[in-house]
Amino acid sequence: MNFLVFVPVIALLIALRFTKLSILLWQFVIFAACFILLKFGFTKPLPMSVVNLFSGIIAVSLFAYLSFDNENFSKSLKELKTFITERQYALWLKIVIIVIPIGFGVNVYIKKSQGIKPPVFGRSIHPAPPTSTSFRGKTIDLVAGENPFRPLKATNPDSFLVHVDNGERVYCEQCSYCHGGNMESKGLFAHALDPIPIKFADKTILPDLQESFLFWRIAKGGPDLPDEAAPWASSMPAFEPFLTENEIWDVLLYMYEFNGMTPRAISAHAGGGGGEH
Ligand code: HEC
Repeated sequence: MNFLVFVPVIALLIALRFTKLSILLWQFVIFAACFILLKFGFTKPLPMSVVNLFSGIIAVSLFAYLSFDNENFSKSLKELKTFITERQYALWLKIVIIVIPIGFGVNVYIKKSQGIKPPVFGRSIHPAPPTSTSFRGKTIDLVAGENPFRPLKATNPDSFLVHVDNGERVYCEQCSYCHGGNMESKGLFAHALDPIPIKFADKTILPDLQESFLFWRIAKGGPDLPDEAAPWASSMPAFEPFLTENEIWDVLLYMYEFNGMTPRAISAHAGGGGGEH
């Protein structure tokens, strides 16, 4: 119980017993006092539905009390008539029939009206890629697409290493400034970027992604990201104009080899995946 509310309200009600208050006003004061007690009188607030329920019961009981005996009832009717007809109450009458309803209306309006807020966007870090993309006029299937050089790892390891070496060259020349020499995203420019470059050393990034997805991200960069990747402005450049298709597949081989990781397999027979290491 909140005594700071209870004590003054009860004291007020007791004090009112000794004044000659009009019967109508008295009803109103009792109702308001009960409402205040229900709403603010408890340290753990009652749910509004309970407050409303009790207020309704109190209103009905007050009316029952008022109409219980004829004397009280005719007295309150007389008071009501005086209140409506006497000039001295004109101002109060206006308040009751105009100001209070307007107050209720405004309250409902304010509660129901929605402020103008920008919609909330969650940025998706690995947005869904399109099913295919065009690279310098050639269509690349992003769903079934695989790194064409990955099978070399098993069939022709020497040739595979040549591709990885070429990938290392590309990475050092083009990517290390941002993604960092050891793929920790601590390249020269990284600290100035928001969002920061993806950290490929992170064990949850490369193994969870398909190489075709990464191919698309490297070729098209930040500029081609779909809306779901907004609102962060990605500084990842689009490398389509600067790197050949083979160079992008090679840099991917290097990124996986450097971290000792394999890409997510599309299906059981699709390279990588199945416990090579
Ligand atoms: C100017 C700095 C910069 C350079 C240079 C850069 N990147 Fe990025 N890269 C970023 C940033 C920032 C992100 C994170 C935002 C995003 O996903 O677009 C990113 C994201 C990526 C992603 C998306 C990864 C994912 O999980 O969605 C890949 C893949 C990628 N970079 C590869 C490369 C490669 C490969 C190179 C070099 C050929 C390179 N980046 C060069 C800044 C750079």
